[in-house]
Amino acid sequence: MWRFLSTLPFYILSLPPNANAATYKPVLPPSYPLAVRNPYLSAWVPGNQVANLPTATPQFWAGQDLSWSVLTRIDGTTYKIFGAPAALTGSVDASLVSAEYTSSHSLFTLTAGPITVVLDFFSPVSPKNYLRQSLPFSYLTVSVSGTASHEIQVYSDIDESWTGQSGNTVGTFNSSFKDGLSIFELSVNEAYLYSENSESQALWGENVFASKPTSSSNLSSEAGSATSVRERFATNGTLSGATTFSDGYVVSLAHDLGSTSNSSVTFVVGYVREAAINYLGSARTGYYRASYPDTGTAVSYFLDDYTSAYSESLASDATLEQKALAAAGSNYSDILLLTTRQAYGGADITIPNDTLNTTDIMIFLKEISSDGNVNTLDVIFPAFPIWYVMSPDYIRYQLEPVLQYLETGLWTQLSSKSFCIHDIGTHYPNATGHNNQIEEDMPVEESGNVILLAYAYVQATGDLAWAEKYQNLFTKYANFLVTGGLDEPVQLATNDCCGPLANQTNLAIKAAIALNAYGKLFNASSYSDTGLSFANELYTKGLGLDSERTHFKLQYGTNVTFGNDSDYAVVFNIYTDILFNFQTFPASTYTMLASYYPTIQGVAGVPLDSRVDWSSTFWTNWAGAASPGKDNETRDLFINDVWSYMTNGLNTPPFSDRWFAVPGSGGLVGGSGDLIGGYDAWRNRPVVGGHFAVLALEGADQF
Ligand SMILES: *[C@@H]1O[C@H](CO)[C@@H](O)[C@H](O)[C@H]1NC(C)=O
Ligand SMILES: *[C@@H]1O[C@H](CO)[C@@H](O)[C@H](O)[C@H]1NC(C)=O
Ligand SMILES: *[C@@H]1O[C@H](CO)[C@@H](O)[C@H](O)[C@H]1NC(C)=O
Ligand SMILES: *[C@@H]1O[C@H](CO)[C@@H](O)[C@H](O)[C@H]1NC(C)=O
Ligand SMILES: *[C@@H]1O[C@H](CO)[C@@H](O)[C@H](O)[C@H]1NC(C)=O
Ligand SMILES: *[C@@H]1O[C@H](CO)[C@@H](O)[C@H](O)[C@H]1NC(C)=O
Ligand SMILES: *[C@@H]1O[C@H](CO)[C@@H](O)[C@H](O)[C@H]1NC(C)=O
Ligand SMILES: *[C@@H]1O[C@H](CO)[C@@H](O)[C@H](O)[C@H]1NC(C)=O
Ligand SMILES: *[C@@H]1O[C@H](CO)[C@@H](O)[C@H](O)[C@H]1NC(C)=O
Ligand SMILES: *[C@@H]1O[C@H](CO)[C@@H](O)[C@H](O)[C@H]1NC(C)=O
Ligand SMILES: *[C@@H]1O[C@H](CO)[C@@H](O)[C@H](O)[C@H]1NC(C)=O
Ligand SMILES: *[C@@H]1O[C@H](CO)[C@@H](O)[C@H](O)[C@H]1NC(C)=O
Repeated sequence: MWRFLSTLPFYILSLPPNANAATYKPVLPPSYPLAVRNPYLSAWVPGNQVANLPTATPQFWAGQDLSWSVLTRIDGTTYKIFGAPAALTGSVDASLVSAEYTSSHSLFTLTAGPITVVLDFFSPVSPKNYLRQSLPFSYLTVSVSGTASHEIQVYSDIDESWTGQSGNTVGTFNSSFKDGLSIFELSVNEAYLYSENSESQALWGENVFASKPTSSSNLSSEAGSATSVRERFATNGTLSGATTFSDGYVVSLAHDLGSTSNSSVTFVVGYVREAAINYLGSARTGYYRASYPDTGTAVSYFLDDYTSAYSESLASDATLEQKALAAAGSNYSDILLLTTRQAYGGADITIPNDTLNTTDIMIFLKEISSDGNVNTLDVIFPAFPIWYVMSPDYIRYQLEPVLQYLETGLWTQLSSKSFCIHDIGTHYPNATGHNNQIEEDMPVEESGNVILLAYAYVQATGDLAWAEKYQNLFTKYANFLVTGGLDEPVQLATNDCCGPLANQTNLAIKAAIALNAYGKLFNASSYSDTGLSFANELYTKGLGLDSERTHFKLQYGTNVTFGNDSDYAVVFNIYTDILFNFQTFPASTYTMLASYYPTIQGVAGVPLDSRVDWSSTFWTNWAGAASPGKDNETRDLFINDVWSYMTNGLNTPPFSDRWFAVPGSGGLVGGSGDLIGGYDAWRNRPVVGGHFAVLALEGADQF
């Protein structure tokens, strides 16, 4: 039996009676990004806890609890604002008025007695400023305002949960930086370089918690047990300065604002890894370290940069919202605003740790949640629409480490794999290649992806010289597609959970377009001709179609399992043909698809192919962008399905890209207990960058 819990959003049924006064702008999402900057600085708060924000528990992206609290003290009364579940003498819970997200801020407004408190969790997304984007920190600004002046203190703390190994940490405190900046650093005892705990937190590096006094505040600090430190703040408003890093301690900072009616203070949380990535045995560090080589100067700069980062964010938040609205309406905008921090938060912008050469940039992208692989080509590829729209150079900088490794020849030293590699490391942050050739091969998938990504970068930037530098590699993979792109032996494609198959129509479509892309990039028309001939077979001659020519089948050929008329695939790979305006496939292909997809719409979405009961948030955006329909109705069907999934109140993870669209068949993938509209798998993956596929049609490099 499958469960379908009525069309009434679940959260409406489960909210406490006094909380439904709060408003959610633009919508109440499954989870709000709080501090989301890279794979190891990724703190969220589930949407269903926000109505009770004073006692909410934030989480690392993987779901384990993090401790992060905010209290305010107003005329001697302590108000719990955020994340303070423990009893606290005489304290009062503030009440939530509204919650809002933009593409870089999560804002919560609460009432605390006579004062309005706004928490602004701000994770900058700076598409072109690598210094700003690479700083591994996030801001929390607490603003207080009221109609009359009150004595106000503002407090925040974090604890060892941020280190990934509570009970085995070292803490330090230093307040000898310029402007009274005070920094706590927490790290794991004897941690192994580049290691993670079982819940994906980094064990090497240092957690940072910092603030500095403003012109109208005095800052105090304390490390000690959560109860005693919070009680001290509640009774006295000032912290003791003690540094007792033992017994389940918190590290806390409190601002005394004196008597005020309107003021704000900013806290910093961060996670610093000097050796951020292991690239083929050499350490790479954050781009920012060329300018700010230690934590003190980096945090100090981060705070000095607040005003500029803030203005940039207001402008780019508004620009993105307007562009998304203009492209496909408010549901689309709601999705993109929630997507942006998560996509950028999958990446680290790096330079060599020894030379700090800022020309030698590599961007590393973690295959978060699904397996931890490094720079997986079929993760960079689905995400690329966001880079194409906002940061085209990211495409090149993510390919650099892969192509430079391929050029060493180590990937082909033991046998003659003539197709492109899947990733450059089994587990982040170890980008150590696959010299033993053991990896998750996806021959046609990755050979097509690497060529199409190169084309996208050149199309967006005009930097053909870069592609020419690696032309030998691209030629090799194009040649592989010429022989293996249509007559495809059994192999995996990007949706690897479905298992390997021969002659997957969606893969052959990718091969056709990638060959055309190679031909156009390097003026090699014979490759384009081959691509067009594949398309001619698959579509015009009907090899990949059902007998009525209504849709593409999942497989083609004479000896395949899913080659029946009723088998289908959502052929998202056809999107780049439209994006690049290639016309590899005739226009009638797209009208056929636009008419077909609505016929397979299920209870809560279009299952991605005829084997499965789930759909994909980003691949369906690709499919809708390619086949919008006459009035954009097919595109909007796909967008609205994702919007419903995002807002149905059934889910609490960071944006999960796969959800159950129809009752489970108990078949190959998907069980009979699947919750329709519930998330199936994966959280916080950067592949959500693919939600920008529709916007990318408006052009490259829009920011
Ligand atoms: C605190 O930071 C200052 C400025 O960077 C540095 O000179 C000093 O050594 C640090 N103190 C400790 C105890 O680490
Ligand atoms: C990275 O490699 C090091 C050295 O082999 C190992 O200790 C560490 O556990 C690896 N990290 C991950 C996340 O697998
Ligand atoms: C309370 O705060 C004052 C400074 O505001 C300090 O002098 C005093 O020691 C504090 N008392 C306690 C018990 O911490
Ligand atoms: C900060 O401390 C100074 C020195 O003790 C004091 O003069 C000032 O009033 C304090 N400011 C606030 C906002 O409490
Ligand atoms: C508080 O002050 C800021 C900066 O001067 C101003 O922008 C804001 O509108 C004020 N807020 C209230 C509620 O008065
Ligand atoms: C479909 O959407 C595109 C992109 O926003 C727009 O240019 C076009 O006018 C829309 N078509 C219709 C028929 O509304
Ligand atoms: C990174 O560079 C710093 C500064 O030169 C050095 O102390 C450190 O050992 C380097 N780390 C690694 C892993 O190479
Ligand atoms: C810095 O890196 C660039 C790009 O890899 C390289 O061309 C240049 O030679 C490097 N500069 C130094 C001083 O190593
Ligand atoms: C392909 O031809 C175009 C137009 O003639 C030219 O601008 C471009 O440089 C050529 N590209 C290559 C890789 O030769
Ligand atoms: C796959 O497609 C090719 C080209 O049409 C065909 O020759 C081959 O027989 C097919 N393979 C299977 C297993 O049907
Ligand atoms: C059909 O496919 C099966 C499984 O892939 C294989 O074992 C069999 O040899 C194939 N038969 C023919 C005639 O190709
Ligand atoms: C958003 O999607 C929902 C669910 O499909 C739909 O009912 C609603 O009309 C859409 N809103 C807009 C503005 O398109």
